[in-house]
Amino acid sequence: MNDKTHGGAPAYRAMISGHGSFAPKKTLTNDDLAKMVDTSDEWITTRTGIKVRHITKDNETTAMLATEAAKRALAEAHLDPADLELIIVATITPEMVFPSTASFVQRALKATQAWVFDLAAACSGFVYGLSIVQQFIESGRLKNALVIGAETLSKITDWTDRTSCILFGDGAGAVVLQRADDGRKGILYSAMHSDGDRWDALNCQAYGSRYPARKPLKDPNKIYMQIKGREVYQQAIRRIVQTVEDCLRACDLSIGDIRMMISHQMNARIIESASKRLKLPDEKVFINIGQYGNTSAASVPIAFDECVRTGRIKRGDIIILVAFGAGLTWGANVVEF
Ligand code: UT7
Repeated sequence: MNDKTHGGAPAYRAMISGHGSFAPKKTLTNDDLAKMVDTSDEWITTRTGIKVRHITKDNETTAMLATEAAKRALAEAHLDPADLELIIVATITPEMVFPSTASFVQRALKATQAWVFDLAAACSGFVYGLSIVQQFIESGRLKNALVIGAETLSKITDWTDRTSCILFGDGAGAVVLQRADDGRKGILYSAMHSDGDRWDALNCQAYGSRYPARKPLKDPNKIYMQIKGREVYQQAIRRIVQTVEDCLRACDLSIGDIRMMISHQMNARIIESASKRLKLPDEKVFINIGQYGNTSAASVPIAFDECVRTGRIKRGDIIILVAFGAGLTWGANVVEF
């Protein structure tokens, strides 16, 4: 392993010691959507790979999903929540404007020693979160942290807009990261990027300081997600390929060393195109968008959790987590699991 990029191997690594995910019970199939907007199962399946998505009920919130996923990850890690030092919740559908969703998770878990915050990097939020915790653990400042990706995108979806409503779903995934000082590896490398010039490719504009709730909206659709699908599609493929190639170069790894690429699940065709350009064989690419839709910050940890549970990756495997989303933001983590 090439550790030149770290200025030498760090004394400590951030190891994933537990993982969990949670999705609301209620589901919405493509056929259900075809009764709501002018679309079909055939169109959605061939253009996106999505078959069904999970949708929260009115009384289910982002913090609830996040807490459930976190409990599962903590149980797997055999870690008492009271020993957590940091909780990051990556989300663009927070519990409320403030306090943070992470504050509600901390309260629910009784993680009394943790400092907490939300991270708004859209679909890249979870991989951004891992890179932040990596720095704190490698520097020796922290031993135990929790990174959660949690979304209730159904609450900011325009259910009359067929170009966006077919894409998204709700859910949460979480990992416990702990200091490994026994030679075990963990996060080897992270590369994060953004391009604010393209903010308008994907956004939800109200209600913030530009469009506060007290001011009537000229365009009522500003309360919903708006996407420029084609632009996102092309940018996503380009940035995923670039970032994975950068990571491989920085770590002196080849495709042959990678067991699995776990991408943000935004569209099966985007993931397949990027994988083809990277010359990644199908068995090294995990896709579960069919059962969840795009769950933004939650998608990578949900996919990671499923990947481990189904035996597709094992301890010691080298994997790449990669994401792309609004901001624009994108990034990847190379992990020796
Ligand atoms: O995580 C980041 C967030 N994710 C995204 O932003 C999504 C990225 N983009 C995509 O996944 C794809 O661009 C989409 C799935 C959104 C769209 O697929 P596409 O192959 O790029 O389709 P398109 O937008 O070029 O539209 C093709 C046609 C259009 O009709 P015309 O103009 O050819 O007559 C659309 O009006 O498909 C029509 N269309 C639909 N037809 C049936 C658009 N949405 C639908 C629909 N059902 N739901």
